[in-house]
Formats: sequence, C-alpha cells, structure tokens
Amino acid sequence: MLKSIKGIFTNKDIVSLSQFDQQSVMKLFKEVMKIKKTSPKKLFKNLQGKIATLVFFEPSTRTFSSHASAFKRLGGQTIDHQNPMTTSSAVKGESIEDMTHMLEQYSDIIVMRHPTKGTLEKVAEAATIPVINAGDGVGEHPTQALLDMYTIFEKFKRLKGLKGLMAGDMLNGRTVHSLIKGLSMFPGNTIYLLSPKELRLSREEYKEYSGRGIRLVEIFSTKDIPSDCHFWYWTRVQKERFKDQKVYEKLKLSFILTKKLISEKAAKKTIFMHPLPRVGEIEVSVDDDPRSLYLTTQPKNGMYVRMALFKLILKS
Ligand code: CP
Repeated sequence: MLKSIKGIFTNKDIVSLSQFDQQSVMKLFKEVMKIKKTSPKKLFKNLQGKIATLVFFEPSTRTFSSHASAFKRLGGQTIDHQNPMTTSSAVKGESIEDMTHMLEQYSDIIVMRHPTKGTLEKVAEAATIPVINAGDGVGEHPTQALLDMYTIFEKFKRLKGLKGLMAGDMLNGRTVHSLIKGLSMFPGNTIYLLSPKELRLSREEYKEYSGRGIRLVEIFSTKDIPSDCHFWYWTRVQKERFKDQKVYEKLKLSFILTKKLISEKAAKKTIFMHPLPRVGEIEVSVDDDPRSLYLTTQPKNGMYVRMALFKLILKS
C-alpha cells in the first residue's frame, strides 16, 4: 500500500501522483525554489555519504541523467544499472524482489524504470529503503509530472484555473497519465486531449480521471483546439507499446506541432512542452519560439525537482 505524502517526504516512496495533495506539491516546489537560489558548494553538502542505485530496464536520456546529476550535485554517489537485462543477474532469472533486497544493502534509495505497469509498487512494497518510480510501462511517470507541473507553475504562478492541451498518445503515454492526476489536485482545470481515436484514454482511465474533478475534453482534430490555452503538452506516439508496427506507422504522426498550427491556434501566453524524446511530432523550426520550453527550461527543471525530492526524502 502506497503511503500518502501529506507534506512529509522523509523516507517515503514516490510511485504515483495519487500519493500527492496540494500541500505536498507546494512543499516540493518551495524546496525547488530554494535549491535554485543555493550555491553549488552548499548544495553539495546535503547528501555526502549517500548512495542512490539507478536501475533502468528501459532506455532513458533525461530521467536517468537528471536523477544522476541531481544526486551528484547534492554530494551523493550513484550505482548505475542502465541495461540490467544484459548486465545484471536479472538475466539469470533473479526476481525483482530479490534484486531489490540486494540493492538496499548497498544504497540509500532506488530509482527504477521498468516496462511493466505496477512493478514499481511491488518494488516499493519489497524495499526497506525509499523507491522512486522513473516510469513503469504505460502506468505512471510521477517525477516527470512534477517537473511538468513545476514548469507550468513557474510560468503562471498557479496550478488552478488553467486550460491546457495534451496531444499525441493518450492511451500509452505515462507522462500524460501522471500529469492529468497532478493537475486534478487543483480546482478549475480543463484539459483538451487531442489524439487519434485509437489512442484516446482507455475508458476506465477517462472515468477515473474525470472523477477526480478535472474537466477532460477529448478532441480528434486540430480544428477543435481552443485558442486560449495556457500550455500545449505534445507527446510521442509510444512505438514500443504497439504489438502491430503497421498500426504504429499509420498513427505515429497524426498530429504535428508546426509553426502554422501555432499561428492558427496558440495564444501569446501559450507555452509549448513535451516530455521528449520527440520523433517528428514537433517541427524543429518551433524550437526557436520563445514559448518552447521542451529543450531548455523543462528538462532543467527536471534536475531541480529531482534534487528537491532527494533532499526531502533523504535529509534527516
Ligand atoms: N521524459 C523522459 O522520460 O525521457 P527519457 O525517456 O529520456 O528519460
């Protein structure tokens, strides 16, 4: 059973956005703001002597590197398993629970990415040290959602009364699932979900998320994008989740973020976000738009948010 944060992060796991409430999100953001103002020398004193194990059963650029960077900037060290299905004893058939029991002998926190939804709950249940979910299949990616929320908060100074667009793969996109849960904690938010019909949210998820108080509007054409969104959150169609690659090929570029679309549908205030990697669904020419945050502010905030989480979870 996952523990709610309720404003106290010490020794807690971070597996789902469902563990959070407004107070906890705001406590985290306050810590992020503090870290951004603190000198590197002072930050380095926080986690000296601590070790994080990073275990990524799926590939990663940002989540792996930013967790490693965050931990090291706070003075800690990391044990890195970037390809455990070829380099760890998982290849010999060691269970995820046994692996967890071993890693907790050597480190103070585990950060894990796994292709199967629900695995991180199992790992957190087995572990006696805190566990961070770095993405579990089509499940959740809580630290991504927290950095996305921080990026929106930094820009608009609030997380309530916002109108947003999420585009791409609503069905398989774990970052979308976590971000919807995150924004549901705050009142008055409306999210337009733009996807091909085949990639809309599962009906169970649509019902579950709508029951959290957020207004979700499913749209299937760029014509229906409202012109006054605070943010556009573009996502990749998740190739690795398709059994039939022909279906993926058909759907992968259903919606592309272009300069033309921006000129037709974006507002001056609209920020453009993407968890990355992108594989053609954002035109490179959009990168220079000052409202594009996906290559700069958003990933940088990822490092700061993860520093804040490590600090709050591990600092006694
Ligand atoms: N945003 C994200 O999860 O990127 P990576 O897969 O590169 O970690």
